[in-house]
Amino acid sequence: MSAACPKLRFHDYQPELASFRSAVLQGLARDNKWIPPKFFYDQRGSLLFEAILEQPEYYLPKVERQLLQTHAAEMAELIGPGSVLIEPGSGNCEKVRLLLAALSPAAYVPMDISGDFLFTSAHELGTDFPRLPIYATCLDFTHTMNLPGNVPDGRRVLFFPGSSLGNFEPVEAQHFLLRAGRLVGAGGGLLIGMDRKKDKRVLEAAYNDRAGITADFNLNLLARINQQLDGDFDLDAFAHYACYNELLGRIEMHLTSLKLQLVEVAGQSFQFLAGERIHTENSYKYDPAEFVALAQTAGFRNCRFWTDETGQFGIYYLVFPHD
Ligand code: AVJ
Repeated sequence: MSAACPKLRFHDYQPELASFRSAVLQGLARDNKWIPPKFFYDQRGSLLFEAILEQPEYYLPKVERQLLQTHAAEMAELIGPGSVLIEPGSGNCEKVRLLLAALSPAAYVPMDISGDFLFTSAHELGTDFPRLPIYATCLDFTHTMNLPGNVPDGRRVLFFPGSSLGNFEPVEAQHFLLRAGRLVGAGGGLLIGMDRKKDKRVLEAAYNDRAGITADFNLNLLARINQQLDGDFDLDAFAHYACYNELLGRIEMHLTSLKLQLVEVAGQSFQFLAGERIHTENSYKYDPAEFVALAQTAGFRNCRFWTDETGQFGIYYLVFPHD
């Protein structure tokens, strides 16, 4: 706590290093090399992701912000006063500000895997909203979303904007939603923003910005391995690659090896053929009917759906009913 932020508390469940090491070593040993996207978000990765949000091709945050702004009053009414607003993957805590203009929750619980980044963002929010109790919680929400013990009572609503759920495989997304239902309980809510299926060219441009920020974000994973896991990746010998897999309805990001090479990580060596790829991210896109059906399999009932004129992005308010 600090004088500027009287109501900010910070809980660190230390999600970081051990799991990064084992995920990388296991992922690089596979035939289809794979490192999960949650490891993008070290301090530099979180800053690069913020820069992605500003790229003109990356339409998601602009469309979502517009929807949040336009419908904030209605969203606030559905969520209700005195609620506990929980945001997994809160990042820079910018989006919740649009709701806070219309909503006075009993508490806001931002959760993020990136500890320093979370602390700074929560502190900035607390400075601007000094009466809002903030329980900043550093954790990996793909594992747990345990609330700190001292969070007040009140209807729990999960705020999950930005299409973050798109990073999960559909069956993992279903499991996440089941956990979300258990967390918010009967009468709880879920306000979630999800990107929609659309023209391949629009999607691919969004993940191949001209300024090369998404490429830097993707390659930063190798820099992080070099730093934290004693790796010797040559960043010039790998290239960013992103494409839309229409059959599976997902953007895929990869890092392509530009030559035959051996790389050492934590004392182990891994071979890369020329053209071989490390798969680093999937970003699933959902048609509204598809997403509502998925949420229903996890027990949620769709209450309200907002979208933009051209149908690029959707925000859903779902309720976990009393049985
Ligand atoms: C944070 C998962 C929603 O998939 O659009 C952006 C991450 N990766 N550009 C997305 C991302 C490359 C983003 N999500």
